[in-house]
Amino acid sequence: MRINKLIIVGFGLIGASLAAGLRKVGACERVIAIARSEHTRDKAVELKLADEAHADLNAVADTLGADDLICIAVPTLTVDKILRQIAASVSDQVTITDCASVKGHVEEAARKAFGELPPQLILGHPIAGSERSGVLAADPELYIDHRVILTPAENTDSHHLERVVNMWEAVGAEVLRMPVAEHDDVLAATSHLPHVIAYSLVDTLAHDTENENIFRYAAGGFRDFTRIASSDPTMWHDIMLANRDSVLRALDLFTNNLAQLRQAIAAQDSDYLMGVFTRAKAARDHFSSRIARQPYTSNPSTTMNEQQIEYLVQPGGSLTGSLRVPGDKSISHRSIMLGSIAEGVTEIEGFLEGEDALATLQAFRDMGVVIEGPDQGRVTVHGVGLHGLQAPPGALYLGNSGTSMRLLAGLLAGQSFDTELTGDESLSRRPMNRVADPLRSMGAKIETEAKGLPPLRIEGGQELNGIRYDLPMASAQVKSCVLLAGLYAQGQTEVVEPAVTRDHTERMLKGFGYPVECDGPRVSLQGGGKLKACHIEVPADISSAAFFMVAAAITPGADVTLTHVGINPTRTGIINILRLMGADIGFSNKREVGGEPVADIRVRHSELKGIDIPPELVPLAIDEFPVLFVAAACAEGTTRLSGAEELRVKESDRIQVMADGLHILGVDAQPTADGMIINGGQIGEGTVESHGDHRIAMSFVIAALRASGPINIRDCANVSTSFPGFVELARSAGISIEINAT
Ligand code: S3P
Repeated sequence: MRINKLIIVGFGLIGASLAAGLRKVGACERVIAIARSEHTRDKAVELKLADEAHADLNAVADTLGADDLICIAVPTLTVDKILRQIAASVSDQVTITDCASVKGHVEEAARKAFGELPPQLILGHPIAGSERSGVLAADPELYIDHRVILTPAENTDSHHLERVVNMWEAVGAEVLRMPVAEHDDVLAATSHLPHVIAYSLVDTLAHDTENENIFRYAAGGFRDFTRIASSDPTMWHDIMLANRDSVLRALDLFTNNLAQLRQAIAAQDSDYLMGVFTRAKAARDHFSSRIARQPYTSNPSTTMNEQQIEYLVQPGGSLTGSLRVPGDKSISHRSIMLGSIAEGVTEIEGFLEGEDALATLQAFRDMGVVIEGPDQGRVTVHGVGLHGLQAPPGALYLGNSGTSMRLLAGLLAGQSFDTELTGDESLSRRPMNRVADPLRSMGAKIETEAKGLPPLRIEGGQELNGIRYDLPMASAQVKSCVLLAGLYAQGQTEVVEPAVTRDHTERMLKGFGYPVECDGPRVSLQGGGKLKACHIEVPADISSAAFFMVAAAITPGADVTLTHVGINPTRTGIINILRLMGADIGFSNKREVGGEPVADIRVRHSELKGIDIPPELVPLAIDEFPVLFVAAACAEGTTRLSGAEELRVKESDRIQVMADGLHILGVDAQPTADGMIINGGQIGEGTVESHGDHRIAMSFVIAALRASGPINIRDCANVSTSFPGFVELARSAGISIEINAT
């Protein structure tokens, strides 16, 4: 949809850059600049940004018709006058849009000028700019990868809307739609408030006459913080007045917070200061890691998911050396949870800085717990006691992490405040009735979506009663959830598991001085006790080490030592299964840290053979089956797994997704309802889908060691949920991986 005549009213940075961009891609026939300043008009024509230039819109108003577009790019308060002019003299065939930063004001001005919002008018706001202004700063690339917010109304004509959308997309922008009021509130908080503060700070310091040299000594902090105070004063004057109500609301919130901070400094309230600073640092770090990949105008909540990461792994490779994989995920989650509800300060070392454990950490920060770090695996949690958590400001977003959601459900069922737990697309498909059902029978009030799916809405203030619960499935998450609720329940809570599952919750509760009774499959505790802060050393995660254990077992000549790995007997199913298949695995340096056994594990290549996996080992290796399937594909003979239906409800349906990938690679793998039958043979080459499942992605990386050609693995961004630094470690061990981001 080409534009015939493009009339840009106001030919400063914003208008002139739009003209430059559209001319560059040939998206309009003719550009007409309207500018009051003669200098601007001359430059517009001289720089070939416009074909003609006039001082007033009236010079061309009655020559315009269908296919023509007027874009108003003047300061916000001047838009009123232009709209009155347009209403009086421009045909209703012409598409009209604007670039003002405040939409409510322009909408009202349009109603006054036209009597109602005309269907031809689409209000818009390109979120782009620079401290430079004027026609000479025109930049045809100003809008590339930046966002433009349009606020179409109910009666907006779709044809005119499409024309405006096309125009912005032609200059490389991403177009979003939003209601006017939402736009003005969001911009007041994220843009208008920072500008008003920056102007005020510089003005305050500039007036400090006793300190006239202040700017001479102003260091990085001042410079970083006040850069935006050199933006165009007229523009910002107009914005503040035009968006007065929203700006005042944001300003009141801020001044209130600042006043509290002032009080805390005066009272030397370290806890309060550390709370504000650690929360703010975490929020800013989170934001920085996202803006490193995208311009600041991108929406951080969608950026990560939109980015597709693929691994291209070359076949073969040797595997040697000593490797330390990151901290245990299950223990890291629990260290934050129990540290937060303990009394005193808990120091954690070896914490897993992966997205899942960080989601738990953020949830507790949101509930008012001061948590310092993580800094190279060190985290300090200032426990608030069993009843010290506070209502979070909004829903707790737990990303991809099933453990966070299920364990937190138990802990939050006993709080005095309401909470809502949400997650990403994969987590939103995972069953939650397995935790909601027992919690309800303890007296909790929990709502789920249909079929027991997240979000979970937990009503606070309920009296919980201890129960005896026979777990219908072997799940450490469900066991832990019920035990955590049991801390808040009257009397005894007892769980009975059908098979042994990981016991980190029980061990860590004891480490925090909380009495727990373990008697075979039964675990019980009494509600109403206290947790006392302690020191936690998180061992390396055996589930992450598993990838390199299998890698070494299947690769001729390999000899790898994995150091400081947790070998809690409820987690060592992988070792027992690999040994049954003939793997050469040895332990050294066995010791106990913080109630958990650890060791260095040496794995050397050996010829593997297929086995029937003993059913009692299934829950002890539940997260390792994707990579065990790769070991089975490299083994001689048939490997049979059954009794593992839980694999169908992990981050993906791990039975189906692994079977599909192995088929693509030419492996004879037959999925069954509760397991898989794999006949070992040659692994081929090809492109496989991980379906966003971290363990599937890493398993196919390991498969490449024995593949006949390269393996391309799609959808690998979630590897960072459990194994940050996986690619670097794999490379250092001798695997050739390339990361491609699209
Ligand atoms: C976990 C328990 C297991 C495991 C998950 C972590 C835990 O899940 O698969 O990765 O930390 O308690 P289930 O309890 O659903 O078996």
